[in-house]
Amino acid sequence: MSHQEDNVLGAVGETAIDPKDKELVIARRAKSRVRGLNHHAYYCSDVEKTRHFYEDILEMPMTIALRIPDEVFTGKASPYCHFFFEMGDGSSIAFFDYPDFYDGEPPFTVPTVYHHHIAVNVDSDASIEYFRARLEAEGYACTYVDHGAFHSLYLKDPGGMNLELCYSPPSAEEFMLRAEKVAHAELKKWAATRN
Ligand SMILES: [Fe+2]
Repeated sequence: MSHQEDNVLGAVGETAIDPKDKELVIARRAKSRVRGLNHHAYYCSDVEKTRHFYEDILEMPMTIALRIPDEVFTGKASPYCHFFFEMGDGSSIAFFDYPDFYDGEPPFTVPTVYHHHIAVNVDSDASIEYFRARLEAEGYACTYVDHGAFHSLYLKDPGGMNLELCYSPPSAEEFMLRAEKVAHAELKKWAATRN
């Protein structure tokens, strides 16, 4: 055992492990309303460099690239691109290229939905409402956005981290399968508008 392994084991004490402990971990995870990471989103200003980095070097396939014509809250014509690179567990690292907002170096003053954020899957629309009620009762301001394939609740955690709780309805499966067929063509079309 390495010195580092000794260190971490030393940090968790000498408690004996019960053979049932693994089953308890599995049962605990099965009960969680928060199912796992959906995506981690960040800014981007060069879509092709970003695609090359994640897809060609890190071998994470680009499965979604959306050209969105309007800002979601105002409906104002404000085109942007939102694109996703998939990992082995189905979660993604995602990017926004949003020229109207990202006009310099981060940090940008933008709505949470377009900011650097982490999105976690929850198991149902009921859980979105359940967490919304609990969070608002504790004074957290929540913003709900129905993106079609995602029903998303945005808020800031106590440290200011932007968090999205999202539920993907059954129709999202068809969206995902169709999205990956057009992702590369869509990103090319978007990139052409940026030149
Ligand atoms: Fe998101």
